Amino acid sequence: MKLRTIENIDVRGKYVLLRDDFNVQIVDGKITDAFRIEQSMETIKALRASGARIAICAHLGRPKGTRNMEFTLAPVAEYMKVPLIPDCLDKDFMKNMQDGDLVLLENVRFYAGEEANDPDFSKKLAEGFDIFVNDAFAVSHRAHASTVGVAEILPSYAGKLLASEIEHLSAVMENPKRPLLSIVAGSKVSTKIGVLKALARLSDKLIIGGALGTTFNYALGGKVGNSLYEADQKDTALEILNYAKENNCEVLLPLDKGVAKEFTATAERTNKDFTEIEDDDIIIDAGVATTERDTAAIRDAATVIWNGTVGMAEWQPTWSYGSFAIAETIAEQTRAGKLESIVGGGDTVAALTACGVKDDITYVSTGGGAFLEFIEGRTLPGIAILEDK
Ligand code: 3PG
Repeated sequence: MKLRTIENIDVRGKYVLLRDDFNVQIVDGKITDAFRIEQSMETIKALRASGARIAICAHLGRPKGTRNMEFTLAPVAEYMKVPLIPDCLDKDFMKNMQDGDLVLLENVRFYAGEEANDPDFSKKLAEGFDIFVNDAFAVSHRAHASTVGVAEILPSYAGKLLASEIEHLSAVMENPKRPLLSIVAGSKVSTKIGVLKALARLSDKLIIGGALGTTFNYALGGKVGNSLYEADQKDTALEILNYAKENNCEVLLPLDKGVAKEFTATAERTNKDFTEIEDDDIIIDAGVATTERDTAAIRDAATVIWNGTVGMAEWQPTWSYGSFAIAETIAEQTRAGKLESIVGGGDTVAALTACGVKDDITYVSTGGGAFLEFIEGRTLPGIAILEDK
């Protein structure tokens, strides 16, 4: 895929509408993980240095088209030390801008026209700008006004982060070093059918963990107690196993689990296999044998793609055991030059950060849903429109 990029365009004195994904977690008005913001800085710096007058357009959460200040981008503006324009359709700030100036527009999802990709709203948003740059890979799977609508109106280009995401993810999918191991976890089979099938086609081995894995264990007759799983996805799980077999992909399902009698961070942990699980047991993490088997599989692999933690990784240290072991082993092998590692998804990246190994990974994607859809081979509307045909 060849994209129109900002490399050779003249932006001096031009008004640039820059779409970034600053959908970061904010607790008590403070950003808990600025990874997405930091990854966007390269494009921002390059545009400023080239004399562009930049307004960043971004969203936070799902305010559903209302001006709900719970979703204000003020903490992001504060973090970046840039002025926040309280209304993303206000153009007054433009007249005072100098070359290299930067502002952040308030949450574009305060308007219903954004998610509806309303042409009228797109027109108002684009008004006054000369160029549109999309650097928001993480929201490019949404056909919204600020990803597709404005790109239909203004000359539009991919920013450096977006281009880098496509380059790294395409490389691993088109020509991975083998053996390729994929690790997919999370809560719902129903939301991951496409990606599980795509990875079954691509990978030599596929680890399915977390609540997702529990549904597979249930489908094969394992006991799952009072755990989170999807009984109605039994046939889908069996179909995916069959599909993997047809594609010569070996699927590794959980062998045992870390369980408790209550779903809390401080609950007492016991290790049980699927014949031992009792009706009131709740699965919260991968078990010891599963983790040993999974880390051995990582050591055998030349490429690992990982999305989804295999337990409640934020409940440290008791329930982060399985996810942290995966993170540490991937990091260790990558550091040793034996592994190419690609990791994506909010919780998974948070686990890398918590382990202190994020910088050891070959490529960490800023995408969650977009990462999965890209791997699945779907056309991402915000990217398709930037293709250089
Ligand atoms: C994300 O956080 O994955 C993106 O910002 C997309 O957010 P959305 O799922 O609310 O559209």
